[in-house]
Amino acid sequence: MKPGDWRIRPTKMHVYQALSDAVNLHIASGSPYRVPKELEEKLGGATSPAVYGHLPYNLFMTRIVQLCGPKTCVELGTYYGVGARHLAAGDPRTRVYTVDFDPACGQRIPPGWENITFIRSDTLRAVHLVPDPIELLFIDAEHTFEAVMAEFAAYSSRLADPSLVLFDDLYHNASIAEVWKVLGLDGFVSPTLHYTGFGVGFVGNWENGKPHAVVSYGEYKQLVVDRYAARRKELAGEGE
Ligand SMILES: C[S@@+](CC[C@H](N)C(=O)[O-])C[C@H]1O[C@@H](n2cnc3c(N)ncnc32)[C@H](O)[C@@H]1O
Repeated sequence: MKPGDWRIRPTKMHVYQALSDAVNLHIASGSPYRVPKELEEKLGGATSPAVYGHLPYNLFMTRIVQLCGPKTCVELGTYYGVGARHLAAGDPRTRVYTVDFDPACGQRIPPGWENITFIRSDTLRAVHLVPDPIELLFIDAEHTFEAVMAEFAAYSSRLADPSLVLFDDLYHNASIAEVWKVLGLDGFVSPTLHYTGFGVGFVGNWENGKPHAVVSYGEYKQLVVDRYAARRKELAGEGE
């Protein structure tokens, strides 16, 4: 396992901070979930609230990249490139490799996303098409026990120390739910980040970190408090 290249060495506390920020942003953006304005612009219509509106995991991914700046992220399963764009939006210095066997996915990522590389391939064949070490791996392609186990096995030797492995849809069906049990990773499965079960696995040596203010007051106010106030005003206006 090669040492990870994070802009700031991540601790579990950073991950919990990203999680709580994502939940706060989700609440602050109102219901149904709306992408924060600055991201909306950057994502260029990548998020359709009707389809993606309930997925705070996207905000979590942006936030952990913002906080800790992993050098290399790999996403297995591109689809509309929503996950890839949320990762890439966190830090322009982070490079995101997103893999999908459907060529249409590459066209769905508009120009301007310099730090995203689309790889048209089967996930398992792409193992050696991405550089290592991988600081953040997001597994979100075929939702079966066999596929996810095979992907984890294939990519695990290329993970950085420490690295974060994210899994979407761990409770999508009974078969995939076994993955978390069998892998026995340190981490948690969050129904808040995605109601289908979003897994966050800590691989390598993770420090717990101290509960300090990762986010400054100014940043927090801008991220959450002001947006919440604006949304409340908007809702009050709607009620008139
Ligand atoms: C759930 S979507 C990915 C969503 C995306 N990660 C996001 O968060 O916005 C799953 C994608 O995985 C792709 N896929 C499924 N099995 C695959 C495989 N074996 N190799 C490559 N892509 C695969 C599908 O074509 C589909 O686009």
